[in-house]
Amino acid sequence: MANPSILILPGDGIGPEVMAEVRKIIDWLGTRGIAFDVQEGLIGGASYDAFGVPLSDETLTRAQAVDAVLLGAVGSPKYDGVEYSKRPEAGLLRIRKEMDLYANLRPAQCFEALADFSSLKRDVVSGLDIVIVRELTSGVYFGEPRGIIDDNEGGRIGINTQRYTTNEIRRIARSAFEMARRRNGRVCSMEKANVMESGVLWREEVTKIGAEEYPDVALSHMYADNGLMQLVRNPKQFDVIVTDNLFGDLLSDAAAMLTGSLGMLPSASLGAPMANGRPKALYEPVHGSAPDIAGQGKANPIATILSFAMALRYSFDLGGEADRLERAVERVLADGLRTADLMGPEGGSPISTAEMGDAIIAALDASL
Ligand code: IPM
Ligand code: MG
Repeated sequence: MANPSILILPGDGIGPEVMAEVRKIIDWLGTRGIAFDVQEGLIGGASYDAFGVPLSDETLTRAQAVDAVLLGAVGSPKYDGVEYSKRPEAGLLRIRKEMDLYANLRPAQCFEALADFSSLKRDVVSGLDIVIVRELTSGVYFGEPRGIIDDNEGGRIGINTQRYTTNEIRRIARSAFEMARRRNGRVCSMEKANVMESGVLWREEVTKIGAEEYPDVALSHMYADNGLMQLVRNPKQFDVIVTDNLFGDLLSDAAAMLTGSLGMLPSASLGAPMANGRPKALYEPVHGSAPDIAGQGKANPIATILSFAMALRYSFDLGGEADRLERAVERVLADGLRTADLMGPEGGSPISTAEMGDAIIAALDASL
């Protein structure tokens, strides 16, 4: 049988640096007989510079054909003047949409060694383990009409449309309920049903799927503004949060800070099952391209490495190796090794991106 295939899209900014550390882990697995066929491609500004578009058809075709895509990050102020549809972010939105990766899983776990690094008090975040299930291919990110038009009175109008169909809501609700069944059996759905019809429909459909198909899962609802407040007030009240594309974007950045650093949060974007029964999948850190520190070896590769652990689990049926990798990360943090983003109240001297990768490899070696 052929090796499972991976397409790596390092992207922009710190993307290539953090992805280089994932490559080390792929190579390490290779030395143990767990081999992957790895290809690379361009996305974001890197693709725009080479091909004039942030995602080429050829790269998209390759992404559709592999078992999993690993993405670094996209974006740079360098492209601020470029037309909207050719910006780096448009490449990311296109790959999510064309691969129909509707379920974005963003787990936020607080590693014990980092409980003092959160901007919240230790007892609020210690032991935190929640998952945000963000709808990723619809809502205001993609709704039509959109654009900037003249109002014919000398002004302009910016337009975006929040739009959800019943099927879009039902499938993301099922993803969340399935996730809750594998965890602690609780889903909290967030929308703004108090002001938005799309939120009313969201609440109705999630309620219906819960009652008809997942009566064993405890379902609650919150308005998203209250939900975000609750997330920073008492995040451990949650198990699985399910929400739309935009609210999920906001909630997951906030959730990242609960874990100590945005440099810690992985994500998996999953679509419909492929012929082999595994979902179409793209794995990427929640953080962005951080152009301010790009190329300086300061970036934390852990979010990208933990995203690869999710790939091992969801795309390659290597849950044991995923656990091993997560434990190696935990070990390194417990040993006090920190990249610059993890310089907490006590200060200290940060290690580089590559040193963090090497330390994780050493911890993997030690685990055998
Ligand atoms: C994310 C990012 C993206 C988003 C950007 C880079 C387009 O913030 O994945 O959370 O808004 O979805
Ligand atoms: Mg975001």
